[in-house]
Amino acid sequence: MKRLFIIFLWIILMIATIVIWTYSYQSSHEEAYVPVSNLSETYIIPSEEGVFKRSEYALEYAEMPIDKKHQRNLNTYYKNRAFYGAPPSIPHAVAERNMGGNSCLKCHENGGYVDKYNAYAPVTPHPEKVNCRQCHVPQKTQSLFVATNWTRTTGAAVGNKALLTSPPIIPHQIQFRENCLSCHAGPGAPKEIRTTHPNRVNCRQCHVINDKNVSEIGVFKRATKE
Ligand code: HEC
Ligand code: HEC
Ligand code: HEC
Ligand code: HEC
Repeated sequence: MKRLFIIFLWIILMIATIVIWTYSYQSSHEEAYVPVSNLSETYIIPSEEGVFKRSEYALEYAEMPIDKKHQRNLNTYYKNRAFYGAPPSIPHAVAERNMGGNSCLKCHENGGYVDKYNAYAPVTPHPEKVNCRQCHVPQKTQSLFVATNWTRTTGAAVGNKALLTSPPIIPHQIQFRENCLSCHAGPGAPKEIRTTHPNRVNCRQCHVINDKNVSEIGVFKRATKE
């Protein structure tokens, strides 16, 4: 009995030695690597993350020819909104009793030409807000019920830049507008604000937010001692 126990113990020890040796031998042959899985844990400032949301399409946008016959412009863009920044109304028929989501995203997630509306579908900056019709509603009437003194506001002027070839400032807020390429690239973008360089991707590297016209900013004078 005692001898059996010693043999058993010896076998266990042998197995343990083999396992440990093999393990340490194999790990000594491992190649150097970068722990890629940790990269996804890098903290990205949420308001800056959106800039890269559609960057996988940037090169495609850069190479797309301009379809001059079907371009939108800022005039019609503003007209479809009750006020600046309001959710645009839906200018086409939609299936009733349908909250949106997948049915709207078929056209509005990536855009593209829609024959029956004779236009390119604008890309939504917020595909994650799937309940589209919570905010977007079709227009039921073109005329007012009662006259009011309401006037529609438009956006700030475009082309506000320090020098002729400087990057123009971003004249609007970034909140809810993090996803630059959705509005500024591709055939669905209003022609005045369709960028010539969607491929530069990191828009906020060069374009800064400012709500002042260049003319309102005084001449820079270096502070000197009196
Ligand atoms: C068959 C494709 C298609 C589907 C499905 C579709 N749309 Fe559209 N949508 C378009 C096109 C094309 C335009 C541009 C129309 C124009 O410029 O005349 C447009 C325009 C819009 C606009 C105006 C955008 C702007 O900037 O003025 C809104 C809002 C909109 N759609 C919301 C929706 C919602 C919400 C749904 C789902 C209930 C939906 N759409 C389903 C193709 C589609
Ligand atoms: C919480 C409210 C809300 C929801 C939900 C919502 N939107 Fe919007 N949407 C807005 C607002 C507000 C704007 C105007 C954004 C601006 O001008 O900065 C807008 C703008 C748009 C535009 C025009 C982008 C442009 O060029 O200005 C499209 C297209 C659009 N939404 C489609 C959709 C679709 C499709 C869905 C559903 C998947 C959806 N939206 C869900 C509020 C919403
Ligand atoms: C919801 C659509 C939308 C989104 C998203 C959006 N913009 Fe804009 N952008 C506009 C509109 C519309 C204008 C025209 C001025 C206005 O209405 O405020 C504009 C104007 C600009 C201009 C001025 C262009 C010129 O010629 O002067 C710059 C630069 C700009 N945006 C950069 C950006 C950057 C960078 C982002 C991403 C952080 C962004 N935009 C996101 C709609 C958008
Ligand atoms: C490397 C710097 C740089 C980056 C990055 C950059 N831009 Fe620009 N952008 C410029 C300059 C410079 C101009 C002025 C060009 C001119 O007037 O010839 C400009 C002009 C614009 C205009 C006015 C129309 C036009 O194209 O001339 C818009 C809109 C615009 N940029 C949007 C964007 C968007 C959206 C992004 C991100 C995809 C972006 N930019 C990334 C430097 C940059």
